[in-house]
Amino acid sequence: MSATQTGRRFLVTGGAGFIGSHLCETLLASGGHVTVVDDLSTGRHSNLHAAHAMGGGRIELIESTVSAALPVLAARHFDAIYHLAAAVGVRLVVEDPARAAETNIFETAAILSFASRTRTPLLFASSSEVYGKGVRTPFQEDDDLVFGGPTVSRWSYGLSKAIDEQLALAHAHRDGLPVVIARFFNTVGPRQRGRYGMVLPRFVAAAVTGQPIQVHGTGQQVRCFCDVRDVAAALPQLLNRPECHGRVFNVGGDHPITVEELAERVIRVTGSSSTIQHIPYSEVFGASFEDLAIRVPDITRLRAAIGFEAHIALERTIHDLMTEHARAPEAAA
Ligand SMILES: NC(=O)c1ccc[n+]([C@@H]2O[C@H](COP(=O)([O-])OP(=O)(O)OC[C@H]3O[C@@H](n4cnc5c(N)ncnc54)[C@H](O)[C@@H]3O)[C@@H](O)[C@H]2O)c1
Repeated sequence: MSATQTGRRFLVTGGAGFIGSHLCETLLASGGHVTVVDDLSTGRHSNLHAAHAMGGGRIELIESTVSAALPVLAARHFDAIYHLAAAVGVRLVVEDPARAAETNIFETAAILSFASRTRTPLLFASSSEVYGKGVRTPFQEDDDLVFGGPTVSRWSYGLSKAIDEQLALAHAHRDGLPVVIARFFNTVGPRQRGRYGMVLPRFVAAAVTGQPIQVHGTGQQVRCFCDVRDVAAALPQLLNRPECHGRVFNVGGDHPITVEELAERVIRVTGSSSTIQHIPYSEVFGASFEDLAIRVPDITRLRAAIGFEAHIALERTIHDLMTEHARAPEAAA
């Protein structure tokens, strides 16, 4: 990243979360000052230990919801906003779809109004879930979005992110807000927790403790995983380029792997004796749960915009998660 980031002031909502904490480190490494707003609902103080160690006085945490922090933030100047705060995770969303929709829509509406008023460039963390149950492979940014009905709670997350995208682009159009929409696909790496239904930390935790690895459904679902450190590095590059403003970008890896193969890879890399156990979706998420057979991004647009290449192989990510688990087993749960 260029040295011109030195001294710039960044606001990162959800910065004490998994992806947000890595982004904070990227921004600090570029010489910036970072203000994190996070209500610690799924985020943790400990996620920011490395950022505090590298940033010293250049990082502060405001422990608050986004909307409640706005009066304090209004008195400050920011050069850019990264809005990552959201209710995340299949389990959390299925258990409390109202909370997911409310958090994701109201908090995003609040920060977008703030950014528009202050003319601050904003990157919005969207999700591959906005493609819903679209069947096109790979997914391209301009594809139609295809959702199941409102009685199926799992779609509340993707629908809320789709509304957020519409709102963000509406602000860009009406107020001239410089906005970038990053649709993250499966992002994995250190600090991700398994308890909200995230697949890789669950698999690694099972493998290193010798428990059966529980694969939901047939295991033939196809996904693409990308290390969080590659994802975090891409975000400032997108927001720093005016030609990216007003646009949507898929952000992720493009090496497809089935979930069954992922479980086998975890067993191999960790040297585990764990077996693989299949559990029907209905047992985990209830009878009406729907999942996607294939979720693969087309990242042509991302490559063309910033020359994106993922540098961290899945084996290294698994290895780092294993090391993290050995150091602090409770932190990975
Ligand atoms: N991890 C993935 O694979 C993935 C995929 C697609 C999209 N995303 C998106 O990326 C962003 C970050 O996700 P993550 O995986 O790091 O999850 P995470 O749960 O670790 O991070 C979300 C953070 O937001 C905070 N938060 C939640 N509600 C808040 C509120 N009202 N006010 C302030 N803070 C609040 C949480 O405490 C947490 O620290 C989210 O917007 C998510 O939707 C993640």
